[in-house]
Amino acid sequence: MTDDTTMFPQHIRALKPYVPGLSIEQVARQSNLPVARIAKLASNENPSGASPLALRALTEHPADPSRYPDADCTDLTHALASHLGVPADWVVAAAGSESVLGIVASMLLAPGRTAVYSQYSFQAFVNAAQRTGAASRVVPSPTFTVDLDGLASAIGPDTALIYIANPGNPTGTWLEPEALEAFLHRVPAQVVVLLDEAYREYMPPERRGDSLAWIRRFPNLVVTRTFSKAYGLAGLRVGYGIAQPHIAEVMRRLRAPFSVTQNAQLAAAVALTDTEFLKRTADANRVGLIQLSQAFQEMGIEVLPSSANFVLARVGDGSDMARRLQRRGLIVRPVGNYGLTEWLRVSVGRPDENTRLIDALDTELRELAAER
Ligand SMILES: Cc1ncc(COP(=O)(O)O)c(C=O)c1O
Repeated sequence: MTDDTTMFPQHIRALKPYVPGLSIEQVARQSNLPVARIAKLASNENPSGASPLALRALTEHPADPSRYPDADCTDLTHALASHLGVPADWVVAAAGSESVLGIVASMLLAPGRTAVYSQYSFQAFVNAAQRTGAASRVVPSPTFTVDLDGLASAIGPDTALIYIANPGNPTGTWLEPEALEAFLHRVPAQVVVLLDEAYREYMPPERRGDSLAWIRRFPNLVVTRTFSKAYGLAGLRVGYGIAQPHIAEVMRRLRAPFSVTQNAQLAAAVALTDTEFLKRTADANRVGLIQLSQAFQEMGIEVLPSSANFVLARVGDGSDMARRLQRRGLIVRPVGNYGLTEWLRVSVGRPDENTRLIDALDTELRELAAER
């Protein structure tokens, strides 16, 4: 028998599995319901699907699968640079922003170095940091909002990286631009701040900080964004990082070659131009967030204010409620892996899906109350 304690270093043995949501097909099989009756409100995907312009480009110009993709993501990088108004060498496209988070973690962290981040930070970043063998200093977040003073106080001589998601996942809470900017002024120049803006497009414009201006001002800032959420391209795996060239160049060296498929590069570049779809997505999300949050509150369920495309709702026993809803063909995300055993994370769906979820939750809560 293999002795795992000698085969794997301690920090690898300590890794927790990333628990993805169940797929629609898995739940259809388990609940004996047709695929069409399953609503997946568990992975913060776009309920309206993908950008129609991107879909059309994929149909009209599908990539030749016998060829490797452009390893430099040249067209996409230039499209992003001109969209953002930054030089092309500030942009690093990769296979999902999760992989950009991994690149940044492996670029800066190592045994003897420390990552600083808030409690309830995105599990994939936490895993990426722990994989490096670095230590983690986790700053408590009793209000579910990132405690920027706490992060600043946690910076030590060994700190190499600070991670902040704005808005955060699984909380959905956000930071005011002025507070974030003041925080950036407090971070020593040799410590990199990784600002994860996966849900930026869902934020009301007045809540969005000018993170590109911050990159110009703070040479130690890396911002990550994704095509997986508002652009509706989660299955294609495209995200990107933006940073000054002295950092972006090292990130490119760490990027796995050919990791972004040609179809993904094409669809992402075209999706960037689909402003109508993006606006429709943000508008529908705003309505859906209100629909879910108000209905939950009317049922006496506490919800956190959210600037993302999901809400965190305190339902009692989160895993049990997720199982109950799943039997009704509704997939939501229990968040016990974050220590939030009483909460469920619910992605905003289409209006009919939101209504089904609200009705099902109401029925389940009534049944539970009657059982007591
Ligand atoms: C905060 C946050 N960052 C990054 C990601 C990664 O997204 P992707 O790798 O699909 O770009 C997610 C996905 O859920 C997320 O919630």
